[in-house]
Amino acid sequence: MKISVFGCGYLGAVHAASMASIGHDVVGVDVDAAKIASLSEGRPPFFEPGFDEILQAGLDSGRLTFSTDAADAADAEVHFIAVGTPQSADGSADLRYVNAAVDAVLPHLAEGALIVGKSTVPVGTAAELAPRIDAAGGRLAWNPEFLREGFAVQDTLTPDRLVYGVAAGDDAAAAKLDELYADVLSHGMPRIVTDLATAELVKVAANAFLATKISFINSMAEIAEGVGADVTQLADAIGHDARIGRRFLNAGVGFGGGCLPKDIRAFQARATELGYGDSVAFLGEVDRINLRRRDRVVDLASEMLGGVEGRRIAVLGLAFKPDSDDVRDSPALDIASRLREAGALVTATDPHAIETARRVRPELDFRPDTDDALAGADLVILLTEWREYRDLDPETVAGLVSGTRVIDGRNVLDGAAYRAAGWEYRALGRG
Ligand SMILES: NC(=O)c1ccc[n+]([C@@H]2O[C@H](COP(=O)([O-])OP(=O)(O)OC[C@H]3O[C@@H](n4cnc5c(N)ncnc54)[C@H](O)[C@@H]3O)[C@@H](O)[C@H]2O)c1
Repeated sequence: MKISVFGCGYLGAVHAASMASIGHDVVGVDVDAAKIASLSEGRPPFFEPGFDEILQAGLDSGRLTFSTDAADAADAEVHFIAVGTPQSADGSADLRYVNAAVDAVLPHLAEGALIVGKSTVPVGTAAELAPRIDAAGGRLAWNPEFLREGFAVQDTLTPDRLVYGVAAGDDAAAAKLDELYADVLSHGMPRIVTDLATAELVKVAANAFLATKISFINSMAEIAEGVGADVTQLADAIGHDARIGRRFLNAGVGFGGGCLPKDIRAFQARATELGYGDSVAFLGEVDRINLRRRDRVVDLASEMLGGVEGRRIAVLGLAFKPDSDDVRDSPALDIASRLREAGALVTATDPHAIETARRVRPELDFRPDTDDALAGADLVILLTEWREYRDLDPETVAGLVSGTRVIDGRNVLDGAAYRAAGWEYRALGRG
């Protein structure tokens, strides 16, 4: 099937290459000429495991092309909208890119073609877009995306479920998506067909739940710290209850990235606009708990060093999560910047996110080499749980630093091993 994907960022580029990998003819369209040039040459504009292979394979097969010209999408049967929906100043979702992408498709829309929203949008967005698309002879569906960065290819090709939001009675839209996703559906995952509003709401509800789960355990961490309890044991113990589950109960510096923070804020903004602000008021607390964890690391660093000014702090990790170079609303980058602003001499490292971090925080002292970042540090703070940082040998690292003090911001290091090697080991939520 000939399809197009408007927006070739973390979501759209992976979607385009994944759809080519299951046999579709795909054109990826983006307004960013540099990104399109890079993708066309097989150079991924971001780090995502497995993406470079499917990108190259797609280009080699001739089934995957990229363009800045919406006209190149003219003969597609399905057009995906995968552009960004960033946070506006008032917390609501900025829909200007979604509107611009739809406006770009409409003049080239074949009769009966399907526009499929993938971007995360406030409930009601599809209802606002639909009349314009109907008038142009097309149809609209919403197919929210649940991929996790770091597992984006796997999650696109073998998702936990597919959700199709379609207009009342539009069985043809669901049938078209079934045809498109036949390969994906052959793995047997559930497929849920809903109305448009439900599909939009499913996505923000999923992210609201995940954010709440993380902030729940981080609120327990605040208390555990105060009373000398251990939040990791608490998480293990409650996580054995199948109704609760252990996943997403890892206490630490909290969530970040291009989705959860902005999505819970946009959800509150939209719900308030619709008169349901009280229903999601708890998300304000979820957000505050999350941001307080960052304050806690800055305070703890100061406590351990007797003030951070002029002290050397090695920050391990800048990406908002491992296996990604994404630093959007990254707790790690935020903490590194705040420590620097407080006068610390921060040396920051990350296996893949130095370049993305440098673009937004050029003032930080980045050290691509981990040993170089650690050399002479008075304090080491682990903020993104990359495998290489988890695997560091406390004895070897002790030989590099000036002061054997460590904050485990993700509760992933072997605290006993660090203590045995002479370190002052502190972790969030473990008094
Ligand atoms: N990244 C994720 O893990 C993820 C997961 C699920 C859902 N989402 C949602 O997917 C959407 C995209 O997220 P992302 O992380 O890929 O963002 P991104 O910023 O990486 O990519 C967005 C892309 O859209 C392009 N764009 C903007 N206006 C355009 C236009 N008019 N025509 C064509 N391209 C245009 C931008 O140049 C950019 O390359 C957001 O709504 C996000 O919430 C993202």
